[in-house]
Amino acid sequence: MTDSLEERARQQLESNTRTTVQDGLTYRYTIPSPEAYLHQWHWDSCFHAIVWASFDRERARDELRSLVARQLPTGLLPHVVYWDPGRISWWSGERLEAPGWSTLVTTPRSSGLMQPPVFAQSLEEVAAGDDAFVRELLPAVARHYRYLANARDPDGDGLVSIVSQFESGLDFSPAFDPSPGDPDPLPRRLRAIARGSQVLNKLCGNRPELVFRLNPRHWEDVLVNSVFADGLASLERLAALVGDTGLEAWARATRARTLDGLLERCYDEHRGLFFSLLGSGERRIEVKTVESLMPLLLESLDATVAARLVEHLADPHSFWPRFPVPSVALDEPSFTTECLIRGQRCIWRGPCAPSTNWLLWRGLQRHGYDDLADRLADSCRELADGGGFNEFYDPVGGRPVGKGEFGWGTLPVVMERTPPLRG
Ligand code: GLC
Repeated sequence: MTDSLEERARQQLESNTRTTVQDGLTYRYTIPSPEAYLHQWHWDSCFHAIVWASFDRERARDELRSLVARQLPTGLLPHVVYWDPGRISWWSGERLEAPGWSTLVTTPRSSGLMQPPVFAQSLEEVAAGDDAFVRELLPAVARHYRYLANARDPDGDGLVSIVSQFESGLDFSPAFDPSPGDPDPLPRRLRAIARGSQVLNKLCGNRPELVFRLNPRHWEDVLVNSVFADGLASLERLAALVGDTGLEAWARATRARTLDGLLERCYDEHRGLFFSLLGSGERRIEVKTVESLMPLLLESLDATVAARLVEHLADPHSFWPRFPVPSVALDEPSFTTECLIRGQRCIWRGPCAPSTNWLLWRGLQRHGYDDLADRLADSCRELADGGGFNEFYDPVGGRPVGKGEFGWGTLPVVMERTPPLRG
């Protein structure tokens, strides 16, 4: 008899687990994939912890503890923790952070970037009301969200800005493409620009205020801000649980400002979609990607705005092919079912990812679209069952694409169907 999906998910996370002893302390964490990602990634680990919590709560707690252990002095919880610096790769400028380059950088054992801040949501799921664990991690988590609200909002409009496309979690999404009509082969140019913005951040000593001045390529990103505001809602509840009224009030006020910012600046009322903003001029990037739907995550989003988003989401010509939800709408010219373009890895240009599906599944449930939420959960389970735990899947044919043995590929096991109404 073959093992259940749950059992296979547990085995996958176990086989991706790494243990390290540093300064006399033991850390356990899950790498995203032995095929490609050998460090601890921020939002991946937050997702891993959520799945771990369904099998082994102590293991889930350790996943979050190891992320917090490498918090930077600014409060930032970095996007990658390099527990094993011998494995640092060149491609994204990470070399600059390896030992030996330490005069150039301030963070030898981690990246200086952020990733979508899904830590508070993960802590809430993992703690499940255990106030002792919340008390243990809350101060560090609060510092991270305060850093984002303060250091990453140069124009004070309530929206967090990212200084590199790698901070968005959706690295090579067409939302980050340079201007159309570019004569260079696309992937090469994309990579050069992406690497440039990351390296510049390092050279600026991870001081975002300098990067904002020197580099026009920074974004007020819809996914990052939706996840941020949703995280603040979790933070509010966690603060209430332990009686921290100051933090609770701060999180509530900050969340309201971020939602206002999203609605005032990123929402295109005519199209019924949200778009990220580029640079200090806040040019809207009108590419229809999965990001455009992400404010659905926010419980306090107006029901009519949510309904417009769901119209797009449920449209089979746009975001609901056989295996939803594509990272780029089917009717966008840049849409592809592949993760390779001209032989180069170029992700987030169409294939669907369990991570963004988990976020949208939550959003659908929050706004009462239980039927669509269930269909999305079923589709995710079907993909994992048929194609294994993968980074991405072709949203039209259902083939696994991208990297295999992937940690966040296990998320479907926590995407439960909505319980039927009683009575
Ligand atoms: C890629 C993805 C990013 C993810 C990382 C590790 O860089 O774009 O979202 O965190 O891989 O899985």
